[in-house]
Amino acid sequence: MQINLSRPDITEKEVEAVCAVLCGTRLSLGPKVVEFEQAFAKYIGAKRAVAVNSGTSGLFLCMLALGIGPGDEVITTPFTFIASATTIMMAGAKPVFVDIDPVNLNIDATKIESRITEKTKAILPVEVFSNPSGLDKVCEIAAKHNLFVIEDSCEALGSALNGKKVGTLGTMSVFGFYPNKQITTGEGGMIVTNDDRLADICVSLRNQGRAKRCDYMEHERLGYNFRLSDINCALGIVQLSRIDEIKAKRRQVAKWYQEMLADDDRLLVPAEPNDCDMSWFVFVVRLTDGFTIEQRDQILHQMRNHNIEVSNYFQPVHLMPFMVEQFGYKPGDFPITESVSSSTIALPFYNNLTKDEVAIVCQTLKKVLGG
Ligand SMILES: Cc1ncc(COP(=O)(O)O)c(C=O)c1O
Repeated sequence: MQINLSRPDITEKEVEAVCAVLCGTRLSLGPKVVEFEQAFAKYIGAKRAVAVNSGTSGLFLCMLALGIGPGDEVITTPFTFIASATTIMMAGAKPVFVDIDPVNLNIDATKIESRITEKTKAILPVEVFSNPSGLDKVCEIAAKHNLFVIEDSCEALGSALNGKKVGTLGTMSVFGFYPNKQITTGEGGMIVTNDDRLADICVSLRNQGRAKRCDYMEHERLGYNFRLSDINCALGIVQLSRIDEIKAKRRQVAKWYQEMLADDDRLLVPAEPNDCDMSWFVFVVRLTDGFTIEQRDQILHQMRNHNIEVSNYFQPVHLMPFMVEQFGYKPGDFPITESVSSSTIALPFYNNLTKDEVAIVCQTLKKVLGG
């Protein structure tokens, strides 16, 4: 039996909703896009939501809408999924990295100010593994220095910090709906903002630069096709309507892992900070200091040999070969990121993972660790 790293949770309701669109006349640019956007904005508590075909497209459009381009710098974390940094580069700007907090694994707000220059236009914090801890401090620094905040919330739909939902903290925020996320549209993303002007620019940019009220073949700016189809949106509408149930299921799976791994002092097990409500994107444990990266990789290998899918979320972004080549980063530049990266093991995690399967994963991990 194989235990997957992630799995979507699709019910009859999603299947019916998608089939209804397939049987209709509008597969794209139709009413399901508007319905999904409105439901999403309402859930987050934001004025506007703009559906796009991926989280990556969403982050890139935020850069363009905010006028970020060549000569500009955006401060972000090197401990994230690659798109947080590459979308800054796609816009022609430079990602400036700041090391992370060793506990919550998010950008360390106390280290940001020393990296702000005249070229800095925005800070792009990420709620890593759905943990929004410390984001309020990042926003305070941005406000003090008059910088935009592009919140990369791709991993954190449903999380909140001090009662404030993720997606409402930044100038603009972006969510992702790849199938390992809390909700999925197959592929997809959502830009969220309270600023009508920025939302309108994104609506135009995602649809070939068309203006709101222009003739269909008129284009007022250089745009893209980053549209999300009605088929995807129909799936997203039902998934979003199930978000509370989904969050509860994920919290239960996290609790089983916490209980079954609590007594193992070779592992650091993630916990929900007191000021956070976490929607649990993944369950990533860390090996304690006695382990080398080679030993961690060997553990991943052995887990896979036992048919348990695991991963090494994340490899340091600044050490990806193209980053080293373009910006000259080297090992040692962001030591906390590098040390955390060498110790992580992402365990199987999804809504319908059973208690028995969690037990198999935990027993296998303990066996592989040599206990
Ligand atoms: C933190 C973060 N940013 C951006 C993305 C990109 O989202 P997508 O895969 O939808 O382009 C992801 C997706 O995995 C992510 O985890």
